[in-house]
Amino acid sequence: DVDENLEPRAPVVTVMGHVDHGKTSLLDALRSTDVAAGEAGGITQHIGAYQVKLGSGQKITFLDTPGHEAFTAMRARGAKVTDIVVLVVAADDGIMPQTVEAIRHARAAGVPMVVAINKIDKPDANPNKVRQNLLQHEVVVEELGGEVQAIEVSAKSRIGLDKLEEAILLQAEILELRANPNREAAGVVIEAKLDRGRGPVATVLVQKGTLKVGDIFVAGSEWGKVRALLNDRGDQQTEAGPAVPVEVLGLTGTPSAGDDFQVVDSEARAREVTAFRQRRTKEQRAVGTAR
Ligand code: GTP
Ligand code: NA
Ligand code: MG
Repeated sequence: DVDENLEPRAPVVTVMGHVDHGKTSLLDALRSTDVAAGEAGGITQHIGAYQVKLGSGQKITFLDTPGHEAFTAMRARGAKVTDIVVLVVAADDGIMPQTVEAIRHARAAGVPMVVAINKIDKPDANPNKVRQNLLQHEVVVEELGGEVQAIEVSAKSRIGLDKLEEAILLQAEILELRANPNREAAGVVIEAKLDRGRGPVATVLVQKGTLKVGDIFVAGSEWGKVRALLNDRGDQQTEAGPAVPVEVLGLTGTPSAGDDFQVVDSEARAREVTAFRQRRTKEQRAVGTAR
């Protein structure tokens, strides 16, 4: 589609890596809050979405992904909605199976990568070994003559965070990311759940346009009218523009993660589109069982 009024937007960055290599801790350090401490068993069960505003006023949108091997599909999804992948590798553990898988996702999605070599505060940290071993997976860091930036960080001791942000912004600048904020919103469902008190709730990444309270939308096979928009800290918002992750209330059903999200002009249109999609899903299921 033709979008003439393109304006600069924040980069969408997905943080990936092996389980417990410190993805959530690194995001916590960047946001200066503490989500990891509140997680069940310290394991990320979903994709968290945050926007960080830097001292310079520049913004970066981060998507957190689980490292556990049961969540491959979620990571694949994360790689697809992203502009840049931050690959977190613990400097003591080094390259592990989900590290390799994350490299594959980034490559398959054609997304540039920045490596964060985390936990450099640990006595057995060996960042040079990490750089060397990345070569075996065809990730060539700058220090070894390649083009991939690898930044030594410690989420725990808050080392290298500025450098990591700079590396991300440098990469983002090369990509010249733009979107038209002055149109009806479209994006993707990052996660969705049925909340006891609030009903169906979806975390949506707006990719273009601006989503507003009162907008009527279709999300996969479900639709709704925006009753409230909440940012990652739970604050009410009146609108959300390109690259902004936002919690959307007002759905009539629970969509699936990865579903497309689109504002439409009327409730009649929303009902029509979702009725069609639900019918199609049923037919596909029927064909599936007939085989
Ligand atoms: P999953 O979401 O389960 O894949 O894990 P994760 O990659 O998000 O790792 P998480 O942030 O949960 O951290 C795992 C463990 O590593 C926790 O005990 C953290 O406190 C610890 N950790 C994270 N970053 C650092 C660091 O820079 N230094 C040290 N010493 N420990 C760290
Ligand atoms: Na963890
Ligand atoms: Mg985590």
